[in-house]
Amino acid sequence: MKTLAVTLDSVGGPVQVETLDLNEPLDGEVLVKMGASGICHSDQHAITGQHGAELPCVLGHEGAGEVVAVGPDVNTIRVGDRVALNWVPSCGLCFYCIREQKHLCSEGTQRIWSGYLADGTSRITRNGEPILHYCGISTWSEHMVVSEVSCRPIPDSVPFEVAALIGCGVATGVGAALHRGEISEGDTVVVVGAGGVGLSAVMGARMAGAEKVIAVDRAPEKKYLSSDLGATDFIIAGDGAIDAVLSVTDGRGADVVIEAIGSTSLQQEWLTAVRPGGTLVLVGVPSASDLTSFVSADLIRSEKTIKGSYYAATDAGRAIDELCAAYLDGLLPVDRLISKRVPIKNVQEAIDAMLTGTEGRSVIIYD
Ligand SMILES: NC(=O)c1ccc[n+]([C@@H]2O[C@H](COP(=O)([O-])OP(=O)(O)OC[C@H]3O[C@@H](n4cnc5c(N)ncnc54)[C@H](O)[C@@H]3O)[C@@H](O)[C@H]2O)c1
Ligand SMILES: [Zn+2]
Ligand SMILES: [Zn+2]
Repeated sequence: MKTLAVTLDSVGGPVQVETLDLNEPLDGEVLVKMGASGICHSDQHAITGQHGAELPCVLGHEGAGEVVAVGPDVNTIRVGDRVALNWVPSCGLCFYCIREQKHLCSEGTQRIWSGYLADGTSRITRNGEPILHYCGISTWSEHMVVSEVSCRPIPDSVPFEVAALIGCGVATGVGAALHRGEISEGDTVVVVGAGGVGLSAVMGARMAGAEKVIAVDRAPEKKYLSSDLGATDFIIAGDGAIDAVLSVTDGRGADVVIEAIGSTSLQQEWLTAVRPGGTLVLVGVPSASDLTSFVSADLIRSEKTIKGSYYAATDAGRAIDELCAAYLDGLLPVDRLISKRVPIKNVQEAIDAMLTGTEGRSVIIYD
């Protein structure tokens, strides 16, 4: 069949919206008619080369849609299922899976970088040449073949655009707050970078019972969006931002600081805004070769903890279930994160909007 999709042929772009050939799902695979797909900054990292994705590929890794066909030997998913797509499906058998760290699954985390489905081949072609599956799910496409294990069924009452964001940005931001920040009732939390991931960390911090949630961003427009999603304070990034945090915490610093941009200089600076005994969570991703330096004696004497946070920071499938339930219970207003909706042909407009820093999440809506 044919599908309209967004391809990236070389680092630096441009991305192209073009019609590709999509082969039928094979063993353990399904065909998804995409309903919505978010624009995450990690797609931009693939475009700039910061993520080192294998090319050419179809981009997108934050999506949801309906299963319209299944291949042979598919046992858990049926035609008609509404699903969110999980970019680290777990094998259930490896060292990490059996230790309840399914998001670190050695098979799942390796495969997403290969650009191939489980059998080591691609279902997407252009003029007979294979095109790769970014993160194994390539959600910037009207239709896509994915592994059955990448699909997580969602309730009928969760809109595709909400489920799509739960599939990456929301699971990542909330996971960083809940599972890596381990935020407690009454904590003061700072989230540096109020994009899709950071604003989700703001929502996660509120869910965890934080008393003060301070969003920091260079775009002043984020003041209103972050307060709408639960931030109690907003500080404009730059000189004076860390002092402002120290002044509202009696000079101590915050219990938890979450860096959701991916800047090594910000990671370094914002460690100084963490109180002794507190935690710095790194969720924004710099380039693979970038180094961050810390004064280790300070780290030791102040017993600060620095943690990385990957994807949902827990079993992503289970996180999708829990986050859909939290949305339906009114605890996670994901719909208010969405500030722009575009058809697939206008994907560049949505990417540009993200790069201004003024938007919440932009979403591709499919017919
Ligand atoms: N750890 C993971 O598993 C994981 C998963 C998804 C995304 N990410 C990463 O999280 C980061 C954020 O992604 P996103 O989709 O939220 O991005 P985004 O573009 O939606 O948001 C980034 C925000 O940071 C702000 N910003 C940029 N530079 C700034 C600066 N110097 N000072 C203050 N504010 C600044 C922007 O104004 C914007 O509001 C990216 O690095 C992305 O790759 C990590
Ligand atoms: Zn993402
Ligand atoms: Zn595994």
